[in-house]
Amino acid sequence: MAARLDTAAVKAAYRRYARVYDLLFGAIFQPGRRRVIRSLACRPGERVLEVGVGTGLSLPLYPRHSRVVGIDLSRDMLERARERVRRHRLEQVEALLEMDAERMAFAAGTFDKVVAMYVVSVVPHPERLVAEMCRVCKPGGDIFIVNHFSSSHPLLRASEGMFSRFAGKMGFRPDLPLEPLLEGSGLQLVEAGRTNLFGYWRMLRCRNGCRSELAA
Ligand SMILES: C[S@@+](CC[C@H](N)C(=O)[O-])C[C@H]1O[C@@H](n2cnc3c(N)ncnc32)[C@H](O)[C@@H]1O
Repeated sequence: MAARLDTAAVKAAYRRYARVYDLLFGAIFQPGRRRVIRSLACRPGERVLEVGVGTGLSLPLYPRHSRVVGIDLSRDMLERARERVRRHRLEQVEALLEMDAERMAFAAGTFDKVVAMYVVSVVPHPERLVAEMCRVCKPGGDIFIVNHFSSSHPLLRASEGMFSRFAGKMGFRPDLPLEPLLEGSGLQLVEAGRTNLFGYWRMLRCRNGCRSELAA
C-alpha cells in the first residue's frame, strides 16, 4: 500500500484540527464509537488499548470497571483528551500516552482488546498499524476497527480517488481498500457492519489470530 501520508503531515494536520475536532467530528462519528464500545462488552479489569484516541471523545463511554490506555501521535489532540479525563473524572482511563501506533512500546500480548476508530486511513502505513495492534493484543483477543474504506460504487470510488491527492492536507486518505489490509494480517473477521451517516463507515470486529511471540 503506497504511503501518501507521513508522520509530519499527520501531526501538522491534527495540530490544526485539535481545536475544532469535537465540533466537526464529534456528533457525526459518535454512533460508531458507541457501537464499538457496546460490542467490546468489557469485563471488570480487562485492559483495552485505544490507538489514535484523539481528543478522547470515546473515553466517557467506557464502563468504569474497564481499564483503558489511549495513545496518539498528536500532542495537541492528547491535551484535549487529558482535559476531558480531568473534567469527567474518568477513573477507567489508566493512561494517555504520546506514541506512534505503528511502533508501540508495549510488550506483546499486553491488552485484552484493541480498538482503532477512524485511524487506519490516517496512519502512513495501515498494514503496520494492524500488525502492531495484533502484536500488543493477547492471542484470541478482540480487535475492533471503525473506518471508511474505499467504496464499491464506481462514482463514489472515482471521487475518493480524486480527493486522495489531498490526503496529506486532509490528514486522512479517502480511498483505503479493505481487503489488502485484512489479507495476511492474522485478523479473523468475526463481524462486519455499517455505521454513521448513510452507513458510509464500517465497523469490523476481528479475532486476533496472531501468536504474540511470532508477531513480536
Ligand atoms: C480521525 S482522528 C480519530 C480520533 C478518535 N479515534 C475519534 O474517534 O475521534 C485520527 C487520530 O489518529 C491519530 N494518529 C494518526 N496517526 C497516528 C499514529 N501513527 N499513531 C498514533 N496516533 C495516530 C491522529 O493524531 C488523530 O488524533
